Amino acid sequence: MGEYARKMVGPKVDELIEDLNKAYADEWLAFFYYKTAAEIAEGINREAVASKFSEIADEELEHAEELAERIGQLGGEVIREFDQLKAMANCKTVNLPEDPTDCKAFLEAGIEAEQCAIKVYEEIMEKLKTDIKDPITFHVIRHIMQEEVEHEDDFETLLG
Ligand SMILES: [Fe+2]
Ligand SMILES: [Fe+2]
Repeated sequence: MGEYARKMVGPKVDELIEDLNKAYADEWLAFFYYKTAAEIAEGINREAVASKFSEIADEELEHAEELAERIGQLGGEVIREFDQLKAMANCKTVNLPEDPTDCKAFLEAGIEAEQCAIKVYEEIMEKLKTDIKDPITFHVIRHIMQEEVEHEDDFETLLG
């Protein structure tokens, strides 16, 4: 851990680590649900829907890694129990449809999940603009948030 890096952030560093860990949990759950969607989706648009979910899932895993790196730099530790991922996540589920041929419902579930993620990062950004001064985390969150906005747009484009 970076001792000076922690000091630089100030007294709310542990609160920030907690926020980052909750977002880290969100990313793992998104990865899991999106890969599942890619696996189970059927119907005439199966190919486009499955490849989009799979591609975005890989980016969610990258987000988890980026958050993990920052958590470590701040002297925190990432969640290490699977049950804790679900417990700590802000966005606890992606509502995949019962009917695997309902491609529209898969995309709607993806859009809903991305909107939840955007909201989470918006709240972290707000803290980073006001009472927690941390330009490095700001940069990381800004980058991830931009990709969540792209994901929402990608799902919306496919939905037509
Ligand atoms: Fe993400
Ligand atoms: Fe996303």
